Amino acid sequence: MEVKSVTCVAPVNIAVIKYWGKTNEKLIIPLNDSLSGTLHTDHMCAKTTVAISSRFTKDRIWLNGKEESLDNPRLVACITEVKDRARNSGKLTEEELQWNVHICSENNFRLAAGSSVIGRLVYSLSSFFLLSVFFSVYALATLYKIDGDISAIARRGSGSACRSIYGGFVQWITGTNPNGTDSIAEQIVPASHWPEMRVLILVVSDSRKKISSTSGMQRSCETSELLKHRVAKCVPERMTEITKAILKKDFETFAKITMQDSNQFHAVGLDTFPPCVYMNDVSHGIANLIHTINRIAGRTLAAYTYDAGPNACLYLLEKDVPSVLAAVNYFFPTDRPKGEYYRGLNVDVTSVPKELAEVKDLAQWPDNNALRYIIHTKIGEGPQIVSETLLNSDGLPK
Ligand code: DP6
Repeated sequence: MEVKSVTCVAPVNIAVIKYWGKTNEKLIIPLNDSLSGTLHTDHMCAKTTVAISSRFTKDRIWLNGKEESLDNPRLVACITEVKDRARNSGKLTEEELQWNVHICSENNFRLAAGSSVIGRLVYSLSSFFLLSVFFSVYALATLYKIDGDISAIARRGSGSACRSIYGGFVQWITGTNPNGTDSIAEQIVPASHWPEMRVLILVVSDSRKKISSTSGMQRSCETSELLKHRVAKCVPERMTEITKAILKKDFETFAKITMQDSNQFHAVGLDTFPPCVYMNDVSHGIANLIHTINRIAGRTLAAYTYDAGPNACLYLLEKDVPSVLAAVNYFFPTDRPKGEYYRGLNVDVTSVPKELAEVKDLAQWPDNNALRYIIHTKIGEGPQIVSETLLNSDGLPK
C-alpha cells in the first residue's frame, strides 16, 4: 500500500526572556514577547515520523512506544490547521488530504534527563503529549508541503515550543492580530553567530508535585500585579537590550538580563495567589554559587535561568566550562559514576582553578548527590528531516 511519510528530529529550547501568561487560552496567544536559545539535537531531541495513507482507517498516535488517544484539542487544532494550509497550497490532491494520519514520536529526554525533564526541565510542559504536537507539526508541514511560517501552527501545540521551529536564538512575538496569525517565532541569529555559547543543565533531585505551566500562568494572570508591571515595562525593555547583546555577542549584558528575567519570572510565581513555587533550596544554592563565582572572578562566567521547575540551566562560553564545572563539582559533591553523571558534550573535569580558589572557602552543600546529573550541550540549528523512520511500511511502529 502507498504510505507517504516524513521523519524529523526536533530540539527543545531554553528561554532567557520567559513567556508567562496568555491573552487567548485557546489560540495560545502570549501576554508578552519571549526569547530563547534552541539546543542542539545531538543531546536532547524528539524523533517523529508522520505518515498518511489511503489504507489507514483512523488517525493514530504513538508516544515512546505506547499508543495514546488523539482526543486532545491542541493536537486536533494543529492537524486541522496543517490540512487547511495544505489545501490552500494545492500541492496535495483532495483525496490525499482525506487520508488518515499516523504519528509516532520518541524522545531521548527520559534517557538524557530523567522523567522530570518532560514536565519541567526544559519546557515545563504539562505532558510530553503537548510537546509531541509541536514535533508532529514540523514533520506534518513537510509531509503536506506547506510553505511559509509554521510557528503559528506549532504554537497551538505548546506555546514555548514554537520557538524551536528555528535554530540559534529565536524570539516569539506576541503579535497584534486577535486571531493569532502574527503571533509567530522569528530567528534572531543562527547557531553559527555565537558558536562559543554552551549550556549546562544541572538536573536537581526533587520529588514535589508541580503545578503545570499552563495552569500556573493562568493563575498568575488572574492574581499577580507584578505580572502586569513585567509585561508593560520590563519585558519590552529587556527584549530590546538582550537582542542587542546577542547581536554584539556581549556576554556580560546577555547574562545579566537572563538572570534578572528568570528571577522576575519566579517572583511572579510568588506573587501569584496561591503562589507557584518552582525553585527549591538546591536551585537557590546554584544561583548563589553562580553569583559568588562571578564576583570572585571579577567577570561573568555564567548565567542561570530556571523554568517551571527546580533544574538550573546555565548559559556560558566554551572557555569557561571547565572553571564553572569545577566550582559546581566542589560545591555539590557527588559520588555518582562519572559516565552517568556527565552527559552530552565531553567535559573536562578539573579541580577548582586559581582564578576561583576562594570558592574553597565556602561550606559545601550538606548532602551528596543534590544534583542528579549534568547535561553539557550547545546551541543548535533547529529541526531537521532525517531518513530513518519510526514506522514500518504498513504504517505501524517498528
Ligand atoms: C516557564 O509552553 O509549557 O518554560 O503554552 O500552556 O503549553 P503552554 O505553556 P508552556 O510554558 C512554558 C513557560 C516557561 C517559559 C518559556 O519557556 O518561555
